[in-house]
Amino acid sequence: MPRSDAQTRALFDRWAATYDDVQSGDGPLAGYAASLREAAAMLPVGAGAHVLDIGIGTGAFAALIAGRGALISVLDVSEGMLAAGRAARAACALALGSFTPIPYPDERFDAVISSFAFHEVASSSRPNACAEIARVLRRGGIVCLLDIVFASTAATADARRAFGVSWDDDEDYALVADLDTLLRQASFADLSWRHTAPCHWVVVGRRSR
Ligand SMILES: C[S@@+](CC[C@H](N)C(=O)[O-])C[C@H]1O[C@@H](n2cnc3c(N)ncnc32)[C@H](O)[C@@H]1O
Repeated sequence: MPRSDAQTRALFDRWAATYDDVQSGDGPLAGYAASLREAAAMLPVGAGAHVLDIGIGTGAFAALIAGRGALISVLDVSEGMLAAGRAARAACALALGSFTPIPYPDERFDAVISSFAFHEVASSSRPNACAEIARVLRRGGIVCLLDIVFASTAATADARRAFGVSWDDDEDYALVADLDTLLRQASFADLSWRHTAPCHWVVVGRRSR
């Protein structure tokens, strides 16, 4: 059963102090560091670009992009996560907030990125979350979502069997085709998908209108 917003915040507040252990962990996050590197390599942003990272956690993805001289703004629903990475992200503008609504004006960013956070959005709110991402991007701006996503319901079932106790039944992972449709409906085009680890896909697209 999906978690409530309050349960999600409490989960990540509790997890913040030890969250960086996911880098060496197994379960559906296996391959975490390599997936972040591949997603960063697919993201065509450089120095001076205004980038929003939603669900930043302790900041591993944003750190890869900040290293290029991009200007990073950050949203997360968890105060614990924002506090945990604060020292390492001194140059980022940090704010408490979520995908729905994104507390920034229209066309504010050149890119919106998010790693392993989109599945936290309830499936009924995902169309709105994609529309919000499009709204805060300038025309031609880039979305880059890396997440636990599966190619088919059979692939989801296989992973659930394979991961056993480390599978979390409170999570609702998207299918590639469904997320692709939502992004296209929200005006994204030129979508490019890559399978980066057994349970990870990254998609990069461009706001077309
Ligand atoms: C699994 S962690 C991923 C963190 C980080 N992006 C990474 O790659 O390691 C999910 C993060 O998303 C945040 N989060 C959960 N629901 C959210 C929402 N609706 N909007 C924004 N952030 C959310 C959590 O607090 C947590 O920091």
